[in-house]
Amino acid sequence: MTTTSTPAPPHAPHASAPRLLGEPVGVDLARHVAAFGPLPAQHGVKRGHAGPLVAEVERSGLAGRGGGWFPTGRKMQAVVAAAHSARKDPVVVVNAMEGEPAASKDSVLVHRNPHLVLDGAVLAAQAVGASVAYVVAHRGGRSVGTLERAVEQRAARGGDPVELRVLAAPARYVASEESALANFVGEGIGLPVTVPPRVFESGVRRRPTFLSNAETMAHIALVARRGAAWFREVGDPAQPGTMLVSVSGAVANPGVIEVPTGTTMRQILGLAGGTTGPVSAAVTGGYGGSWVSASAAIDLPWTPDGLRPAGGTPGAGVLAVLPSESCGLVETARVVQWMAGQSAGQCGPCRFGLTAVSQDFAALAAARLKGTGLAGLEKRLGIIPGRGACRHPDGAVRFAASALEVFADEVKRHLSGHCSAGRRTYVLPVPAGTVTLPVDRPGEEWR
Ligand SMILES: Cc1cc2nc3c(=O)[nH]c(=O)nc-3n(C[C@H](O)[C@H](O)[C@H](O)COP(=O)(O)O)c2cc1C
Ligand code: SF4
Repeated sequence: MTTTSTPAPPHAPHASAPRLLGEPVGVDLARHVAAFGPLPAQHGVKRGHAGPLVAEVERSGLAGRGGGWFPTGRKMQAVVAAAHSARKDPVVVVNAMEGEPAASKDSVLVHRNPHLVLDGAVLAAQAVGASVAYVVAHRGGRSVGTLERAVEQRAARGGDPVELRVLAAPARYVASEESALANFVGEGIGLPVTVPPRVFESGVRRRPTFLSNAETMAHIALVARRGAAWFREVGDPAQPGTMLVSVSGAVANPGVIEVPTGTTMRQILGLAGGTTGPVSAAVTGGYGGSWVSASAAIDLPWTPDGLRPAGGTPGAGVLAVLPSESCGLVETARVVQWMAGQSAGQCGPCRFGLTAVSQDFAALAAARLKGTGLAGLEKRLGIIPGRGACRHPDGAVRFAASALEVFADEVKRHLSGHCSAGRRTYVLPVPAGTVTLPVDRPGEEWR
């Protein structure tokens, strides 16, 4: 595989001032209002009709930052229409779960500017006609306490025009999938439910639900204050604005950075202090996203359309960089085992299919896959997508399939009993205690 190295430029490129992370004010509401202005009043909101903010969000071109990049204004419109035809009050849910192990953008955002997220939730609720907004974060994570303190500050200063409730959901990956999150808010069970109907039609307690990522909500708060034209001033015209990227792996300064959409991987790596050495590939979007070859993706713009030629996606804003001396198949085997373990076990193709994929991948990574093993793995990868109640298996399969493509040369080596990697530590994080592999590589014992 071609390797790529990006030393930090003398002056890292800052194409625009950060919008979400620029002025970190924490839970202090007075400082938040001083930095961003008060919660804008929404005029002309009529019960059963979309408030003017919905059209403004549509004009802004904001697309959801939770992974799917679905147009946010269109989703809000759909919630209002569903509520109107069902004659039910809609509900708003903020997804601050950050289920992706390689992501930290939402918790960083919540820590630095929780009121932007809460403002977005309140404004979105008013705009779609909801009287309550739930903000849900992982149980045991630091976001829950921060959000609770921020809500207390708001209550002490007179409260909000809609009710804000902070909930702590189980710290499981699939609990942050939208149907699972709506199920948790409504019934206290963080398991996905079969879709359709999608949550915009029938979510929390069967009410139309506007469920969006924490970063998306923060962007809504800024669109409400500064308008669609301001939002479109930076970023790619098709998917404008800024985005948060959680950068990890072989970079000098891992962390969360805010960049205009359309920024290239080379520029993002420059902002993260450059790579620590030659790199071969990167995970884009998260573990439900895909691997890209570093040389193929290095100068592509970070948007869904822009990364497509290399098979990548900005997804949930994850960029995890693999050093050349690491084995992408071993890294993938660990992640796939974690993904298989995250199945809620409700659907056969997910429960049994992902387990089989994980076992095949472990054998491939250990250079023990024999005979027709690779063909069997590829066949499984072809039949699993679209057969679960939720998209979890689709994401796991996409990730595994992208590894076979991006590390095709390494696959050949492993099939003949060899591995070219020299590195002994792992790059991609998996939550502690969830993965039993280290995968043993040829000539290497379990460690
Ligand atoms: C297994 C799985 C896990 C997910 N985890 C998250 C998450 O942690 N945070 C999030 O915002 N979206 C997550 N999503 C996506 C959500 O289902 C949903 O599409 C998103 O919250 C919508 O927000 P957006 O429109 O602002 O992008 C996950 C999806 C799947 C399939
Ligand atoms: S597809 Fe998997 S994670 Fe999703 S509901 Fe079915 S078993 Fe659970």
